[in-house]
Amino acid sequence: MSDALTLKKAVAREALRWVEPGSIIGVGTGSTVDCFIDALGQSGIALAGAVSSSNRTEEKLRSVGVAVLDLNDVVELGVYIDGADEIDPALNLIKGGGGALTREKVVAEAARLFVCIADASKEVAVLGNFALPIEVLPIASALIQRKVEEMGGIPKLRSGFITDNGNIIIDVSGLSITDPQAMESKINQWPGVVTCGLFALRKADVACIATPDGVRVSEANKQ
Ligand code: A5P
Repeated sequence: MSDALTLKKAVAREALRWVEPGSIIGVGTGSTVDCFIDALGQSGIALAGAVSSSNRTEEKLRSVGVAVLDLNDVVELGVYIDGADEIDPALNLIKGGGGALTREKVVAEAARLFVCIADASKEVAVLGNFALPIEVLPIASALIQRKVEEMGGIPKLRSGFITDNGNIIIDVSGLSITDPQAMESKINQWPGVVTCGLFALRKADVACIATPDGVRVSEANKQ
């Protein structure tokens, strides 16, 4: 029986397949990504650098000797590697459990290929069991919570948490997200929302899913 950390380490090692020596990669945030950064450090693959999606990842990349670059100075990002909180069969994602959703979305958008690494516990038929995080300007907290309620969701302010961008997170439960692209567009146009944790307009291209029987790889265009 594989424990959670063993699965994360297995999928982290698998993700090295998409890392081209000498390239610049984008790196997400979370415990699975932490395993990926460890695997990268141990692999001996020399990169030109990496663009990070959070202060936490930036520190960890530096600790294994990877140069951290500003996205504004990077012309081409071949691959973005990140975890997820939920992943549906079409490779739409919920992200932001760690609160880094906005920078993750920016870096993912800049990459040609988005490789999502997760264990099979993150797979769902329909997104929404995991509370959907929304990054919000502090001034809009009450406004956005009312809008969430009007939409049928149950909002909860993430207590004592401020994002790397100085904003708050509202976690929304009670949603069954059958049309992730429509919901992402709808929430993202509310004034005061920085972005929501739905990754459907720019979903993953490849999913590496760790199971006790090995790592399963699927591609979005082959669903
Ligand atoms: C960070 O904000 C999140 O989007 C993470 O990618 C997500 O929560 C997955 O994290 P774990 O790998 O720790 O489960």
